[in-house]
Amino acid sequence: MSETLVSLWTDVRKRLEAAGIDTPVLDARLLLEAGAGVSRLEIVTDPRRAVDEAQVEAVEALTKRREAREPVSHILGRKHFWTLDLLVNANVLTPRPETEFVVEVGLLELLPAEAPYRILDLGAGSGAIIVALLKERPNATGVAVDISAKALEVVQANAERVGVADRLEILQNNWADGLDGRFDLVVSNPPYIRSGDIDGLAPEVCRFEPRIALDGGEDGFTAYRIITAALPRLLKPGGAFALEVGLGQAEGVKALAEAVGLGTFEPRRDLSGIPRVVVGHSG
Ligand SMILES: C[S@@+](CC[C@H](N)C(=O)[O-])C[C@H]1O[C@@H](n2cnc3c(N)ncnc32)[C@H](O)[C@@H]1O
Repeated sequence: MSETLVSLWTDVRKRLEAAGIDTPVLDARLLLEAGAGVSRLEIVTDPRRAVDEAQVEAVEALTKRREAREPVSHILGRKHFWTLDLLVNANVLTPRPETEFVVEVGLLELLPAEAPYRILDLGAGSGAIIVALLKERPNATGVAVDISAKALEVVQANAERVGVADRLEILQNNWADGLDGRFDLVVSNPPYIRSGDIDGLAPEVCRFEPRIALDGGEDGFTAYRIITAALPRLLKPGGAFALEVGLGQAEGVKALAEAVGLGTFEPRRDLSGIPRVVVGHSG
């Protein structure tokens, strides 16, 4: 019997389940859409449509990659973030839903109105945070810093895709070394996993995401120490900062900021109640 959209979806779902993937239904649909070149609407409204051999082979190739635990975002080359459809690849951390909270806090609390803000993103990765902020604040300008030249190519591509490239400077740099601009807002989602914990993470993360995007040093705080130490000279008087933190790191990062004379607020909690973003202002 020949394959249909729904039978292929079911086959792929079962294989992903057997491979230990925890979102097999969703992932199977995304691979079916990409491999067979059909939309979600077509799958739902015409599930018994026959698929040809070329479509089956294309879906098979993608399924094998997912069975080997390659993230869906790498297979598709795209990831939804905030309101945006961003390009991603193996050179950047796939932007996470938690990081949308940095954008939200930045917009609602730290960049409340429309103004010609200057924003710095340290460790921009795919550019997710800075590109989303510039999209939402059309008079703002930004600087995206990353140590990885390959990551910065992705930032550039996303900035062009979203239409903010003319307001974004892209800089390959070791954190804020030599940077002397004064910013209204500094954001960062730096690497914060303890080095010794990385190999215990899900295969999608430890095998496929860039180690430099994950590794926060022995205690997970290496980047926070460097970034907080630089904030006093990076912020304008009255400027603010928002740093994403991992589980259990908020109080430690808040203390680092206070130790260099910055003011802090209560760390902002995400929808699960986890303190997720450490926020504060120039001293
Ligand atoms: C956790 S990822 C965050 C990426 C992106 N901002 C996001 O939230 O999805 C951290 C980023 O910091 C960058 N990074 C690591 N060490 C760095 C350094 N010494 N200087 C600048 N960037 C660095 C990595 O290349 C990576 O892109």
